[in-house]
Amino acid sequence: MTRKFDGDRLLVATHNKGKLEEMVHLLEPFGVSVVGAGEMNLPEPEETEDTFVGNARIKAHAAAKATGLPALSDDSGITIDALDGAPGVYTADWAETGEGRDFLMAMTRAHEELESKDAAHPRTAQFRCTLVLAWPDGHDEVFEGVSPGHLVWPIRGKDGFGYDPMFVPDGHDITFAEMDRWEKNKISHRGRAVEMFVKGCFDG
Ligand code: IMP
Repeated sequence: MTRKFDGDRLLVATHNKGKLEEMVHLLEPFGVSVVGAGEMNLPEPEETEDTFVGNARIKAHAAAKATGLPALSDDSGITIDALDGAPGVYTADWAETGEGRDFLMAMTRAHEELESKDAAHPRTAQFRCTLVLAWPDGHDEVFEGVSPGHLVWPIRGKDGFGYDPMFVPDGHDITFAEMDRWEKNKISHRGRAVEMFVKGCFDG
């Protein structure tokens, strides 16, 4: 039996602005206001696991322990089939410059690795999102969402964040960065994981 969340303010254990904005938007219809880890001055724990769920657990439990409140974390990324699932849990690392993140650099790397392998088209990939809701007593619940699609080059669109400009979800011919928020959130990995979270942890 899934444990219910009965508050009206949810601590989301992320410092990523793009993820946080999508969470606010996704949870608004359920009357839940979202508080980010930045607002609570929470430290960013090191993500030392090699799975999405492992890293999501680290972030959620660290935040729940530090605040005494239930905390939701998001670990996500993109898996590219022709690169054997890379960058996967290292999706954010590919953007790391030492002085912040550069997603154009990360997308260029993905494209160049595909080119150097002469990978066939369509270059299929999946965005993946694992959400963990952790309580201060150590209990947690896990929810996963996947959005399958393919990669395009050159990149297209100005909305969204991260790798959105190179990803076209199945059933569409525009990238996530060319979609408005509603359209992306309806079909995205994060939208799907939040749907499972809401079904599992909210009454009604
Ligand atoms: P982490 O979960 O903090 O390890 O970072 C995941 C990384 O995956 C983010 O920094 C983004 O680059 C990427 N990512 C996750 N979700 C999305 C999305 O919805 N659109 C584009 N990129 C995403």
